[in-house]
Amino acid sequence: MFSRRTGWEFHADALAEAAARRRAMGGLLDLTETNPTRCGFEYPQSAIRAALAQPDIFLYQPEPQGLPAAREAVANYYQARRQTGAAERPLAFAGTPRSEAVWLTAGSSESYAHLLRLLCDPGDCVHVPRPGYPLLEMLAGLQDVELAPYPLSPWSNWEIDLPAFEASLTPRSRAVVVIHPNNPTGSYLGRKEWLELQTLAARHELAVIVDEVFYDYALEWQSTAGIESEPLPEPAALTFVLNGISKITALPQMKLGWFVLRGPQALAQAAARRLEPMLDSFLSVDTPVQLAAGELLRARLEVQPQIQARLRTNLALLDQALATCPALRRWKVSGGWQAIVRVPGIFSDEEWARKLLAESGVHLHPGHFYGLDQMQDAAGAQMRAACLVLSLLPPTQDFTRAVSAAIHLIRSQIK
Ligand SMILES: Cc1ncc(COP(=O)(O)O)c(C=O)c1O
Repeated sequence: MFSRRTGWEFHADALAEAAARRRAMGGLLDLTETNPTRCGFEYPQSAIRAALAQPDIFLYQPEPQGLPAAREAVANYYQARRQTGAAERPLAFAGTPRSEAVWLTAGSSESYAHLLRLLCDPGDCVHVPRPGYPLLEMLAGLQDVELAPYPLSPWSNWEIDLPAFEASLTPRSRAVVVIHPNNPTGSYLGRKEWLELQTLAARHELAVIVDEVFYDYALEWQSTAGIESEPLPEPAALTFVLNGISKITALPQMKLGWFVLRGPQALAQAAARRLEPMLDSFLSVDTPVQLAAGELLRARLEVQPQIQARLRTNLALLDQALATCPALRRWKVSGGWQAIVRVPGIFSDEEWARKLLAESGVHLHPGHFYGLDQMQDAAGAQMRAACLVLSLLPPTQDFTRAVSAAIHLIRSQIK
């Protein structure tokens, strides 16, 4: 009766179940929390409510690409981004996109779904970073698309090994996804890496999907000798830049995302011609959210500083705690909302995560969730250390309590 693509093997996730039990009992120290609406940030609620309740919400104006004013608000976001320090990290934009290049969706997941449908036939292949965002596997599976992970090396700032990536392409390769900064490694693509990837993608007729949802959350990112601010050429390959207010304004419940279409004009036009009927079949972004787009984006100016401050404070506290236990190391967090800590490989990452939950009530993600268990060490062998991924978003008091409980337990195990 059911499709093969939904024939998942439903096996219980023991860690998640144990965490749910612990939560129900009270006393879960949750370091997996990345839902910003549960982390105590203050939103400009009256302004957002007013924006969602305009008289025009009773008028239906079906627009496959999204209402022009909402797309204009998105273009203005990029314009504003150019005028701040953040302008040093853009890759896909030779200038600011015009609203005509913006396509609204009900979130980045939906953007991925549309783009995979646009670019791939069943069995085609899309290349994604590993370590990387686990939901991509599900999103690709739902479109009958195969994923081929390309490794990022922790020993060289999580760079892509481009010759190895090129060697892994097959006749079914259709697109490459880059996450800028990547989840969970927090790494931004470098300028040279970007330009080389674009050339390679154009040569192999691959589309490039750039997911920038964490773009605004730079932490330890450093400019390389100012060259990052020189203007970049228009992408050589057909390129889609994804983002949305789920992370920009920390409002995942408002379901407003988009992709910006870049690259050679003929290809971009051909893509637009196909996208229009596709998005017209769904018209999924609701009118109140589109009418409120300007305000929802403006609200980031109040929300992002709170999140930035939280991320920095928690990262500094994490470092203080890690300094008490030399066997623990964290990877640099160039950006994003998470940190990766390396723990001695006396247990697997899953065993560490279960132990931490059972014995100290601390819930964090084992690295294999993100493919961190597949990494090789500097000599090319399977890495012995285990990786644990933790969110930097929880309220600082909760975060500190959880981190010290975790480190206390880890120290007791490695003595
Ligand atoms: C890298 C990345 N892309 C996309 C998303 C999802 O974005 P949205 O809520 O807009 O679907 C997430 C959510 O955590 C993410 O980590």
